[in-house]
Amino acid sequence: MTLSTYELASSAPMIPVIVIEDIAHAVPLAQALVAGGIKVLEVTLRTPVALDAIREIIANVPDAIVGAGTLRNAADVDACLAAGCAFGVSPGAPAPLMEAVAANKFPFLPGCNTPTEAMTLADQGHEVLKFFPASAAGGTPMLKALTSPLPDVKFCPTGGVSLENAKEYLALSNVVTVGGSWVAPVPHMIAGDWAAIEDIARKTTLALGNR
Ligand code: 3PG
Repeated sequence: MTLSTYELASSAPMIPVIVIEDIAHAVPLAQALVAGGIKVLEVTLRTPVALDAIREIIANVPDAIVGAGTLRNAADVDACLAAGCAFGVSPGAPAPLMEAVAANKFPFLPGCNTPTEAMTLADQGHEVLKFFPASAAGGTPMLKALTSPLPDVKFCPTGGVSLENAKEYLALSNVVTVGGSWVAPVPHMIAGDWAAIEDIARKTTLALGNR
């Protein structure tokens, strides 16, 4: 079943931005996040093993809803669809990327951080936009300012969001969920400390709400 980006985002207390350097980390990381209540996972295409990691998680962690992040072009869309990704995320929205997304009806959260970009993407039918880099682009005051002229445009702020400030973002009427890397710290992954990651995920789920 294909979930819309709104269904995906609104079911997630937050979406982890995951960078996997070692393929051996993929399954235990996903298992720890899912055990802690975080099921919608964004594995970024920033490392050579990213697509293999996505395939391994899909094959071995059935409760995870696995998408890819940092898509930059049409070839990335093809690769993600071939790997079985449920959705994609990008820090931006270049035309060739968005044409491939549309041609494939790929559930997608394109990136933006200006009113014009948000209006353009909403007019293209995108339900949830990644607001990136959230803190550097104005944080909660900027998003709050957008609620008045663009009340129907919904965002997933990412970049500088933490467990400490996530609730401030989630309290805004135009924020559906948030993204962040804090639940998958690379040092914990290198140390194989999956229990610590599960603990961070559980604390996050409890704090932000298990949706
Ligand atoms: C991203 O990589 O998409 C975001 O920059 C993640 O930002 P964070 O590390 O501040 O959560």
